[in-house]
Amino acid sequence: MNIESYLANWKNRIDEKLDEYLPSPETYPETLSRAMRYTVLAGGKRIRPILLITTYQLCGGKNVDEIFPVACALEFIHSYSLIHDDLPSIDNDDYRRGLLSSHKKFGEDIAILAGDALFSHAFYTIAESYIAPKKKDEILKTLTFAIGNKGIIGGQIKDVETDPTKRNPKLLRYIHSHKTAIFFSAACEMGGILAEVDSNIITHLRKGGLFMGMAFQIIDDVIDVEGVMEEAGKDINSDENKLTYPSIYGVGHSKEIAKRYTQISMKHLKNINNESDLLEGIILFLLRRMK
Ligand code: IPE
Ligand code: IPE
Ligand code: MG
Ligand code: MG
Ligand code: MG
Repeated sequence: MNIESYLANWKNRIDEKLDEYLPSPETYPETLSRAMRYTVLAGGKRIRPILLITTYQLCGGKNVDEIFPVACALEFIHSYSLIHDDLPSIDNDDYRRGLLSSHKKFGEDIAILAGDALFSHAFYTIAESYIAPKKKDEILKTLTFAIGNKGIIGGQIKDVETDPTKRNPKLLRYIHSHKTAIFFSAACEMGGILAEVDSNIITHLRKGGLFMGMAFQIIDDVIDVEGVMEEAGKDINSDENKLTYPSIYGVGHSKEIAKRYTQISMKHLKNINNESDLLEGIILFLLRRMK
């Protein structure tokens, strides 16, 4: 199976599960349920849940049904982060996943609350799952670390408060590793935890995921410069007041850096097992994507 079909197959299965775990459009308060569903079901590559499932299986995990709630929780958290990221007070973007962004569709008040509700719903979904308590504790520790002040939110804060004219490479690495890469790292690490692998493999998963996430965010910056809105599904040329890889290194050099990070990522992920070609395929797909 080629990598595109692999990703499309999992995306379909994950989309079905997301629909199942979300509140129905009729669930009271209906506006909130509709807004939660709107952004999650608008589309998206589902790359974080797919990484969780792929690493889990490569690490020997056999019960994918059991980990679907965790995979969907990652997507609920990601979707909440996108809704808040698009708000006028953050990136002020009007389009997301090929549709109007949440605040454009529902208003800022509802968008903020829909993001909040998705965040909580992620943890409810994990809490309701049948994963053994010890493993649940471990994945929750990894996940909550990755999305809090030492992860996504730390990165988002520096993303909004940094003066892009300062051109500070160390700060740029902080922003990208925190707002994006640590979540990739957590998805891979959680796949390993759920499959109960040894700690040396966990270390490779964590590092492999981190470098993959760095390359991912660099290409996201490149898409903002070189992409087209119809394909990307979101506003482009919207990073003008942001510190990004292209703003410091230019597009060509940024792509080279992304490629180098990709190679480091693969070096780590090759240690999982000899079928990790699959992860290599995913990483290379992410490197050449335009959305
Ligand atoms: C967008 O993430 C936000 C970043 C961290 C760059 P994705 O590119 O994974 O967005 P979707 O989920 O496919 O819409
Ligand atoms: C978003 O980074 C990171 C998070 C949502 C945590 P960007 O602001 O670059 O993502 P896009 O380009 O809006 O998707
Ligand atoms: Mg942003
Ligand atoms: Mg943004
Ligand atoms: Mg971006």
